[in-house]
Amino acid sequence: MFNFDFYNPTYIVFGKDRLDELDVLVPKEAKVLITYGGGSAVRSGLIDRIVKALGNRKVEQFGGIEPNPSLETCERAVAFIKEHGVDFVLAVGGGSVVDATKLIVMGATYDGPVIEVMKASVPAVPVEMVPNPLPFGTVMTLPATGSEMNNGAVITYGDGKYPVFSNLIFPKFSMLDPTLTFTLPEKQVKNGVIDTFVHTTEQYLTYPVEGRIQDRFSEGILKTMIEIGKETVENPENYDIRANHVWASALALNGLIGAGVPQDWATHLIGHELTATYHLDHGITLAIVLPALLEVKKADKLEKLAQYATRVWHITEGTNQEKADKAIAKTREFFESLGVSTHLKDYGLGEEAVDKIVKQLEAHGMTQLGEKGDVTPEVAREILTRAL
Ligand code: NZQ
Ligand code: ZN
Repeated sequence: MFNFDFYNPTYIVFGKDRLDELDVLVPKEAKVLITYGGGSAVRSGLIDRIVKALGNRKVEQFGGIEPNPSLETCERAVAFIKEHGVDFVLAVGGGSVVDATKLIVMGATYDGPVIEVMKASVPAVPVEMVPNPLPFGTVMTLPATGSEMNNGAVITYGDGKYPVFSNLIFPKFSMLDPTLTFTLPEKQVKNGVIDTFVHTTEQYLTYPVEGRIQDRFSEGILKTMIEIGKETVENPENYDIRANHVWASALALNGLIGAGVPQDWATHLIGHELTATYHLDHGITLAIVLPALLEVKKADKLEKLAQYATRVWHITEGTNQEKADKAIAKTREFFESLGVSTHLKDYGLGEEAVDKIVKQLEAHGMTQLGEKGDVTPEVAREILTRAL
């Protein structure tokens, strides 16, 4: 097992009918800014309920944060905060609202353009650059990204999507009420199932390092998502099924399963280019890229693929090669069983898209991806060609 640091200070408030507890979670004297997305939280009445729960506090609102949030939107929110003065931010929405809020709380206390914070953000925004971001909490409405319990964000700028990290942007708390996700369009539930699944494989399907605990946590998440994925799409208001999805999403990307083990992330980084260029939903890009990537990288991932086959899919017969092939086929079938195609052509994309994405990866310096840094643009071409 590799050496690792594990730090996760986010306070989780899980379950239904707990919105009133915002009155305890949000500092009493705070002037609060509620950030939200394109309006689903207004239409469902959630924003009104939150304002009520916040009682006598002064509350401002900043809506209109778009999926795959842009730097420009974050800049507008920062300008709003600098003009109105805010002590606490409450993000209400999915990964996009929470991610944007993470950059906003840093930008609001930085004495310069927000883009400087973004550009300094890998591997992490230097603490001396933004020592005191505004505190923020979340009311999560979409189980998928894990942003509710991690230190990362993904921001769209120009023709790319860029990660932002800082240990100072963990939410102070996240309220995870599965019933707030019942209004999700079916497509977003499918995206959420796939995102949760692929966050887990990115940290599990690499090479063995005797991370037995991490492996078994990962296998537990994968098996749970296979068990509940279709059901939570088809029966969105089955509380216990959705509750498992919500908790799995938080656990899949809160640092726990990735501590001390190699991590891949090539599927995500190739997927980000597909989103930035062709506006495909994040979850859909993962369904397209992962099965093809596993096929191309099968030899390097063979031991873990065989373990995945046996422990997650109960494939016990055959050589490691045969087990790996079957497990990859099962993975593709799982995504397809949710009604999500794993082929570029089904989204109207052909050979020209392969060329374009390879060029974008090069332009963005994404030339050494994967757990061994060997997913070069040429390997990415092979993956995307298989995904046609
Ligand atoms: O904007 P509104 O009107 O609220 O509608 C949203 C949006 O259109 C809707 N929605 C959310 N909750 C709803 C709802 N509609 C009805 N009822 C509800 N309860 O869903 C749509 C998609 O929302 P979005 O927040 O964009 O989806 P998601 O949570 O999948 O977030 C995707 C973003 O997160 C990034 C992705 O790259 C993408 O930009 N990621 C962030 C990560 C992180 N911070 O750690 C890791 C992930 O791998 C991912 O990259
Ligand atoms: Zn993801």
